[in-house]
Amino acid sequence: MPEINRRTFVGASIAVGGVVATPPLVAGCGEGEHDTGQSSTVRLRINGETREISVDNRTSLLDMLRERAGLTGTKKGCDQGACGACTILVNGSRINSCLTLAVMHDGAEITTIEGLARNGRLHPLQQAFIDEDAFQCGYCTSGQIMSGVGCIIEGHTGSPAEIREQMSGNICRCGAYTNIVTAVANTARA
Ligand code: FES
Ligand code: FES
Repeated sequence: MPEINRRTFVGASIAVGGVVATPPLVAGCGEGEHDTGQSSTVRLRINGETREISVDNRTSLLDMLRERAGLTGTKKGCDQGACGACTILVNGSRINSCLTLAVMHDGAEITTIEGLARNGRLHPLQQAFIDEDAFQCGYCTSGQIMSGVGCIIEGHTGSPAEIREQMSGNICRCGAYTNIVTAVANTARA
């Protein structure tokens, strides 16, 4: 059986079109956006800053943040509510931003991973993730941290089991769960 390595895999994928970048459906639309000709202007406070953003009515909050607001710290994993990579806080509550439309949040207060640090200092949970080695590839990390912040705000940190249960919607394919729970527990205790 021929050896398959990354180079041969990518080469084969390009040959069948699997990793060829496809242009947006309509010029001017970002990834995940489709121009229906119906757009709205939403006014939000994002990380303490008032923003007015024009979006197609079918744009998810996640795509608006990444493609219109330039905040790419919030990650797109599954785009269907199954991984938690896109977790942010809306009016203090954590949500999967891929599952909701931007136009539904006019007037909302939004916090993303970019808004956690204060005066050049990391949020205590961001620091705890570093101290506890709570990530490997880092792709899930912004969602894990935002979910952890929400979990602490909600007071759902009574035990490692409770933290695990409350953050069960945040998947880490690298399996850093033990250190993630430790980071959240330590921050909640501090
Ligand atoms: S990208 Fe939103 S839950 Fe996976
Ligand atoms: S650190 Fe890689 S997916 Fe969580």
